[in-house]
Amino acid sequence: MQIAIDGPASAGKSTIAKIIAQKLNYVYTDTGAMYRAVTLLAQQHQLAYDDEAQIVQLMSQTPISFRVLAGQQHIFLGTQDVTTAIRLPAISRNVSQVAALKKVREILVQQQQKIAQDANVVMDGRDIGTVVLPQADVKIFLIASVAERAQRRYRENLTRGITTSLSALQAEIKTRDYKDSHRTISPLRKASDAIEVDTTGLNIAQVVTKVMEIIQQKLNS
Ligand code: DC
Repeated sequence: MQIAIDGPASAGKSTIAKIIAQKLNYVYTDTGAMYRAVTLLAQQHQLAYDDEAQIVQLMSQTPISFRVLAGQQHIFLGTQDVTTAIRLPAISRNVSQVAALKKVREILVQQQQKIAQDANVVMDGRDIGTVVLPQADVKIFLIASVAERAQRRYRENLTRGITTSLSALQAEIKTRDYKDSHRTISPLRKASDAIEVDTTGLNIAQVVTKVMEIIQQKLNS
């Protein structure tokens, strides 16, 4: 069983996908975290974020993996736990550039398809319904206003001990939306068979209920 959840930055994809995966006892895969991990890898080796050849070379030596530790999902670069490091502003600012590299996408998409072959998954990202899992059983496209998404990321950062300015977050989200939807390879796009859910003004429980209803309907049809 494959459930694809796509949408722009901070629309609540990972929060919702995580809860849905838990409810259904499926594997949750945060594909954005994988692009962030590659960005961190480039940063740690002081590579330019458009140096595709060198980044791909490093990726071949440094596997990305997910592990559940004390009930929480962690992401590893080789043996290094990078769960917190990939959320730092320097990574958020540069990840779009790395996510636009063709070969990086090919490698990560293959890895994501492999994860979905081996287990029931709830996978979130930008291109899951369109490119990674075009045959997914359920496709959800989550959206929310820019103001609301900035508020959510602001609060999320605070819980991680990272202080950011709200206006800077709004600007960053707008820039990222633009870059994610205008890049040549796999731009952010709603799959024709995806169901759009606008989460503006809804709390987490309300969104989960809506998404679970859509999943149940699809599974019963
Ligand atoms: O969801 P996020 O903010 O953690 O994603 C980080 C970046 O990775 C975002 O700018 C878009 C990119 N991304 C992508 O291109 N394709 C995916 N499947 C997931 C994320």
